Parts: sequence; C-alpha cells; structure tokens
Amino acid sequence: MELNYQTIAVERQAGITTVAFNRPEKRNAMSPTLHREMYDALTKLAADDETEVLLLTGRGESFSAGQDLKEYFYELKDSPKEREAIRYVSHAWRHQILYHFPKPTIAVVNGWCFGGAFTAVASCDIAIAAEEAIFGLSEINFGNIPGGLVSRVVAELMLPRQALYYVLTGDQFDGRRAAEIGLVTMAVPRAELMDKALEVARKLQAKDKLALRACKEVFKQVDLRGLDFEAAYHWLSAKGDQLTYRQKGAWIEQGIGKFLNKEYRPGVEAMPSERGARE
Ligand code: COA
Repeated sequence: MELNYQTIAVERQAGITTVAFNRPEKRNAMSPTLHREMYDALTKLAADDETEVLLLTGRGESFSAGQDLKEYFYELKDSPKEREAIRYVSHAWRHQILYHFPKPTIAVVNGWCFGGAFTAVASCDIAIAAEEAIFGLSEINFGNIPGGLVSRVVAELMLPRQALYYVLTGDQFDGRRAAEIGLVTMAVPRAELMDKALEVARKLQAKDKLALRACKEVFKQVDLRGLDFEAAYHWLSAKGDQLTYRQKGAWIEQGIGKFLNKEYRPGVEAMPSERGARE
C-alpha cells in the first residue's frame, strides 16, 4: 500500500498505525495538501487489515496549529470554488472518515493545538494530551468564529461555561485543563505521552474487534442523546443483534462460555484472544 506523503508520516507497527502531521516548521498547520493527504491516508487505512488501532499525533513540538492561515484561507480568498472544494476535503477526513473510522482511534496531543485541530482531536475516540500541550480557540484573535465543525464539537465535549469562555477570549489552556473540561480523556507528562498512548492502544487490541466496532457505531452513528428512550432501546437492540450475527454468536458462546468455564473473569480482563477466528 502506497503511504508516502509530503505533509504527513504514516508508520505501521504490530497492528498500531501512527499518522503524524509532519510540517513541524509550520507548526503542523493544515494546508490543502495536508488535507488531501489525510483524506487519502485515512481512506486507505480504514480498509487496512494491519491497522487495528490508529494514533493521530504531530511531529516536533506541535500537534497542529490548526488551519494553514496562509494556504487555506489567505491564498484562496479569491478562489471560491477551490476554497469550497478543499473545505469539503478538510471536513470529510476530520469528521466523516475519522469520526466514523472502523477501528479505535486515539489523538495523541503532543503540543500546540489550535482551532481546526480541535475537530481532529474531537473525532478520535480517545484523546490523550501532554500536560504541557497548549490549546487555543484562536479564531477570535484574528476576528473570526471557530468555523467548520469546531464550535459544534467544542459545544459537544467541553463544559458549556468553559467552552464559550475560551471561544470568546481565545485564552490558551494546557493539557491538564483540557482534561478537566472534557476536551481530552486524560493528560500525562509529555515524557510519558507516547508510552501511555501505546499502553491504551494495546489494551484495545486485546478486545474483540467486531465488538469494538459495534461499540463505536452505537455511540457515533446516531446522536444517542437525541433519541428518546424507546428509540434508543430499539437502536441498541438492533445493534446488539447485528453484532451477534457478525460474530456468529461468539460473545455468548465464547465470551460468556469461557467465563462459565472459569477461563477468565470479564470484570477484570478481556477474554483470551482467538484472533482472526471469526474474521
Ligand atoms: N498557518 C500557517 N502558518 C503557520 C501557522 C498557521 N496556523 N501556525 C504557524 N505557522 C507558521 C508561521 O507562519 C511560521 O512560518 P515561517 O517560519 O515561514 O515564518 C512558522 O509556522 C512558525 O511560527 P511561529 O509563529 O514563529 O512559531 P511559534 O512557535 O513562535 O508560535 C504558534 C507557534 C502556534 C503559537 C503561532 O505560530 C500561532 O499563533 N499560529 C497560529 C495559530 C492559529 O491561530 N491557528 C488557526 C486556527 S484555525
């Protein structure tokens, strides 16, 4: 599979694929080329059997300084068609593809994270930040709104009083604060960041792949909180039945069967792996 790019770096190792924004000299700002490359890479990796868990991070001192203010905004200001085309690609990879990626995804926020990069973080299932990472909704500082889906995902994830405060002031906050207000799952010292991400990735690799996919679909294919309780009950029942069908009943036969045989305890560990048996 061809995964060589100018603005991103892709590494696949032992089932864990790391995609890194790779324009450190530009603080990993998301240029039109980067958007096209992310779209291409994620489309391929979604169907890649070697990718069991996806990590998204940045090379150098930045996660991403958001949209490339020069190449994405300024240079396209008089080219509305081109602007619209790249805006769609930018939306498609960050939300449609990454949000619904069929395998678990982890944002590994190593440093600067601004504006449009929030959408990429939000689309990942889990986000782990360096305590030292700096986040900012900087749009107000150049007289704009957090556009694309940024305001939407911030409203979804962050505590409402904190979200609007940071939208209006453009104040920066660090990784620890990002965890407190719901933007990321956890924050750890930068020196431990990648080890923590790999630890979580390996934990996910030990789970049943089809069950992981179903857990994501249940949460992400519809707005669960927008469903009334009866609709949610029917949606979850249908997804549970679909999983049973996809797994050929394995969660009952093996998942529960092995517990009844005293082979493991699901309260404290994943069932012993029979990788590939049902794929
Ligand atoms: N778009 C385009 N270029 C960017 C960029 C962005 N979002 N962020 C940084 N760069 C470029 C700078 O223009 C500079 O390029 P140059 O060396 O060719 O002049 C280079 O990256 C380094 O930037 P600099 O500002 O010198 O780095 P710094 O480490 O002092 O500060 C930031 C880092 C991220 C705080 C600062 O670059 C910044 O405020 N960037 C804009 C963040 C932003 O508002 N993003 C938009 C969100 S939608």
